[in-house]
Amino acid sequence: MFRTVFSRMLATNIVISVLTMTLLALVLSFSLRGVFINKQFEEMRRNEDNIISIIEKNQGIKWAEPSTLIQLQAVASSNHFVIWLLDNHGNILSIAGDGSDSDQFEQNTLGDNLKAVLIKVLSGEEIATTGIFDAPLNAPVMTVGHPITQNGMMGAVFIHLKLQEFESILGNVIMNITLSALLAIALSVILTYFNSLRISRPLSQMSAAAKEIARGNMQKRVNGAGKDEIGELASSFNKMVDELQTQENVRRGFIANVSHELRSPLTSIQGFVQGILDGTVPENQRDKHLKTVLGETKRLGKLINDLLDLSQIEAGKFPLHITKFDLNEVARRILITFEGKIEAKGMEVDARFAGGKLFIRADMDRMVQVLANLLDNAVKFSRSGGKLYVRTKTVGNAARIIIADNGLGIPKKDLPFIWQGFYRVDDTTRENGGGTGLGLSIAKKIIEQQKGNIRVRSAEGAYTVFIIDILKETVSK
Ligand SMILES: Nc1ncnc2c1ncn2[C@@H]1O[C@H](COP(=O)(O)OP(=O)(O)OP(=O)(O)O)[C@@H](O)[C@H]1O
Ligand SMILES: [Mg+2]
Repeated sequence: MFRTVFSRMLATNIVISVLTMTLLALVLSFSLRGVFINKQFEEMRRNEDNIISIIEKNQGIKWAEPSTLIQLQAVASSNHFVIWLLDNHGNILSIAGDGSDSDQFEQNTLGDNLKAVLIKVLSGEEIATTGIFDAPLNAPVMTVGHPITQNGMMGAVFIHLKLQEFESILGNVIMNITLSALLAIALSVILTYFNSLRISRPLSQMSAAAKEIARGNMQKRVNGAGKDEIGELASSFNKMVDELQTQENVRRGFIANVSHELRSPLTSIQGFVQGILDGTVPENQRDKHLKTVLGETKRLGKLINDLLDLSQIEAGKFPLHITKFDLNEVARRILITFEGKIEAKGMEVDARFAGGKLFIRADMDRMVQVLANLLDNAVKFSRSGGKLYVRTKTVGNAARIIIADNGLGIPKKDLPFIWQGFYRVDDTTRENGGGTGLGLSIAKKIIEQQKGNIRVRSAEGAYTVFIIDILKETVSK
């Protein structure tokens, strides 16, 4: 029945407010009634003293004196009292007040149950009670009773007050309380309705959006959820969808890039092999073309390795083998491996290393991979006869290695993007040397994985400087 949050909240709130209001109205009416009755008893007690003194001043229990009766009648009618005077046998000797002229009782004698009350009064007890005398008086009454003794005779006076008037006042009060309670309930239901709607609407929107997203439609967002926790949830949800969409775009772009990078070498391999097989390529040119094919297969191999590295780093499954080693030593060694390429381009090397050994704790193979890409880039994107700079030094508690060249440089607009996978400066003048644009994105991830920092400074057509800072091993053992 209450399957939605909205209906459950609404129902709960209605039940709570109805219960609270009913309870409040009941408690209020009861306590009001109690307060009213106590006040009235006090009033009757005050009058009781007056009545007794009137009786005692006159003939005592058997009063029939017109003057006494007139006085009592006056007290009774001004207070809406009925006053009874009884002897010790339970005979009502006189009645003043409402109904005194009519025959209230067939026999003016109390029944047995009321006699018990009389006995209590005669024994000196003062009573203040409601309900007991209702039957003989044909209406709900409150009663106070008091003993009288005169000339050795015992008797009692009972003063009754009909609750009718008082009940109607109380009835009015209760009616007002009930009306206010109903109004409060109605208001709370209206407020709860809108509040529940405000909470449940974004939730159902989110649920609908989540279903759409699961089907691949990322356009859905949750609107107008306010600034509270629900609003926060909605905005986090929207952010999550934005992020998912970005990820999805990146993924699609990545797949498109990978397919493209795979297709071009494959097409060229296919073309050359086909040409060799069907004899289109003359015999004397076969070796040349086969070398190209070999180059393309190497490029494919490198691409696949880079992709594997990237996917492992992103999945957090790129194990690091941290050891302590001398960065100067590694830099020297790697520079030697590039000798061939550097010489082929007629470049001049300016290498200066920090004095002594520069120990760092890092994954040596990964550092070699990063430095190799930086050197490869510096050579690839330099003009013949250019200069290659390699520096190592200590900066604070970090070891710094700088690889720079005075080659083509990177245009300012491309600088922020060179760390993205497959990003290459789109420039017809530069020969990208068959690179895929994955080198720097892998380098950045590797350096950051080792809590280091890599950054670049460059001016188009002038220079490019890559700076890596990595925590130094402080105690050189
Ligand atoms: N020293 C440099 N001088 C000029 N441009 C550079 C230099 N280093 C990088 N770039 C630019 O940044 C791009 C990204 O470099 P990155 O190393 O990621 O890719 P790549 O060298 O083209 O390919 P890969 O490293 O995967 O073989 C390069 O394509 C080039 O346009
Ligand atoms: Mg590179």
